[in-house]
Amino acid sequence: MASSPRKILVTSALPYANGPIHIGHLVEYIQTDIWVRFQKLRGHECYYVCADDAHGTPIMLRAQKEGITPEELIARFHTEHQADFADFAIRFDNYYSTHSPENQHFSNLIYKGLNEGGHIERRTIRQFYDPVKEMFLPDRFIHGECPHCGAKDQYGDSCEECSKTYNPTELKNPVSAVSGATPIEKESEHWFVNLSNFDTMLQKWTSSGALQPGVLHKLNEWFETGLQAWDISRDAPYFGFEIPDQPNKYFYVWLDAPIGYMASFKNLCEREQLDFEQFWGKDNQTELYHFIGKDIIYFHCLFWPAMLTAGGFRKPTAVFVHGFLKVDGHKMSKTRGTFINARTYLNHLNPEYLRYYFAAKLGNGVEDVDLNMDDFFHRVNADLVGKFVNIASRCVKFITNHFNGQLAPALADAALYQQFIDEGNTIAEAYENRDYKKAVRDIMALADRANQYIDKHKPWVMVKQKGNEDQLQAVCSQGLNLFQVLMGYLAPILPWLVNQVEAFLAAPVAWQPEPLLAHTINPFKPLMKRVEKKQIDAMIEASKDSLATPQPAASIESIAEPIGYDEFSQIDLRIARIVKAEQVEGAQKLLRLTLDVGEEQPRNVFAGIKDAYTPEQLTNRLTVMVANLAPRQMRFGVSEGMVLAAGPGKNEIFLLSPDEGAQPGMRVK
Ligand code: MSP
Ligand code: ZN
Repeated sequence: MASSPRKILVTSALPYANGPIHIGHLVEYIQTDIWVRFQKLRGHECYYVCADDAHGTPIMLRAQKEGITPEELIARFHTEHQADFADFAIRFDNYYSTHSPENQHFSNLIYKGLNEGGHIERRTIRQFYDPVKEMFLPDRFIHGECPHCGAKDQYGDSCEECSKTYNPTELKNPVSAVSGATPIEKESEHWFVNLSNFDTMLQKWTSSGALQPGVLHKLNEWFETGLQAWDISRDAPYFGFEIPDQPNKYFYVWLDAPIGYMASFKNLCEREQLDFEQFWGKDNQTELYHFIGKDIIYFHCLFWPAMLTAGGFRKPTAVFVHGFLKVDGHKMSKTRGTFINARTYLNHLNPEYLRYYFAAKLGNGVEDVDLNMDDFFHRVNADLVGKFVNIASRCVKFITNHFNGQLAPALADAALYQQFIDEGNTIAEAYENRDYKKAVRDIMALADRANQYIDKHKPWVMVKQKGNEDQLQAVCSQGLNLFQVLMGYLAPILPWLVNQVEAFLAAPVAWQPEPLLAHTINPFKPLMKRVEKKQIDAMIEASKDSLATPQPAASIESIAEPIGYDEFSQIDLRIARIVKAEQVEGAQKLLRLTLDVGEEQPRNVFAGIKDAYTPEQLTNRLTVMVANLAPRQMRFGVSEGMVLAAGPGKNEIFLLSPDEGAQPGMRVK
């Protein structure tokens, strides 16, 4: 067994308190929970804390809309979130809120550190202001026409059509999304943290091994561009903490959000008499890990270590970043019914299926994770039920019916059992490195061997032969003991199955348990049912937002003015093969396509279809392109043509493709 126990504090990002938990969030909470359960199972002192992220404009406005106070709104989501997490077996040691006295205390303390360290600077900025609501507007609450391509109804920070980013004041015909009024520009004094003061410390910390290679690469890009000062204040009205001695100025939600990790832990320390300093003090002997999604790297790997340093606290041992969830290769979509809330899932399916599936798909990189519904169906049924649970159900009935539940006094194949134990180190290493898919692969390979063992000895044949009783008992006991070892290895992923297995084995499940010999087990109840297709379909159906489904009549644009045949024939449409499709660094909507149109040189074309397709789905596909469109210089390079697609946009885009047999370069007439 491992040497002296480690002391470990673990967090997941704090979900916003103005919306339900969905299966995208669950990637992170399940990933973290498995890691924490693994550490606890191995005997380490490990705490897992989280909280609701309760501050900010969206929460304030949503409460107003519902005619309740922000406190009432966040209380409601606090209850809902906790129920969702509990029902997915996500076991926090504390689940708190950023709207708490502890959080206010630490926010003030860190702000004081920033201030006294000379890291705060005041600047007057011009910002959009809603004259009706009498409030400054965050970028997301301003809509208008894109200053670059003229697309209507775009957000204040970037255009979904042409992917360009801009300042909200550049929008044409801007409107406040809060009141519908035309916003005016107004000056206000803001508090900024001079992040560049921390440049040296940050470069040192980020390259100290605390980050995954992909994350470090991203950070180095940011270091090269130079760290910008960070605006940490917001004007009243705002739901948050007032800045000490600065009436009507509030801390921006992202200042107090990560401090919420500390506050939640402090709250736990008070309740359970733990030593806070031991975990957050500079001279700690403990480990601190933050699990986060790839969208919030900047906050956790730059702002947060800077704040901790200014406040006199330790820095994280590591930040573990994961990718985003896709469903069937696409972003989650309300129209497709793949924007699945945790509660909707629970109404239809067993949460341990999802825990198992995510574990089987999660590596330790920052790549996106695809929940493929067919794959989900097969893996749960074939691996979890058909392979793993089946080991127990194949053996147990003989023990119950013929031996009164009594297991054999010795292992029939001690060498095989030992092999299962020996594999534990590799499996533990995979868990430790968050390479759960490797852990699952190794465990399932052992499950195959356990099944082969049973296949070889055929207890169902033995039972019919007289004089073979001892052997039958020995073989089935061996099978159950192998099963028990595997259940220990899977325990971090399937904690409820563990409870059921403990009940029927009448013994605790542990990491590498002692074999059960001459031990009496309880009658068996089926451990886990197979998933049925109709359950998945019902969940998807229940997730479909009827309002988000395109209303055909309304979404189809009216037909354009007539043109002559000559004008049409000027457009040279060609069949193209997508030889390669790639992500474009920094682009929100674009993919870079390399197209074979039968010419010597392939074409380079940028297409705004990233939300609807993954590069893998496009590679080798045939489509139709406008081959004689004048080349266009874009921010990311020159686009030499255009591929044809239909649909309202976002993830509802349908790329045209010819019937089978069409060849690249054929002209479309
Ligand atoms: N409130 C902030 C985090 C503050 S941490 C001090 C926030 N909240 S969130 O609700 O939007 O996201 C919470 C976590 O879930 C983040 O780590 C985020 O990356 C993750 N995910 C949210 N949607 C996700 C997917 N679709 N897929 C995978 N993870 C996703 O950000
Ligand atoms: Zn645009």
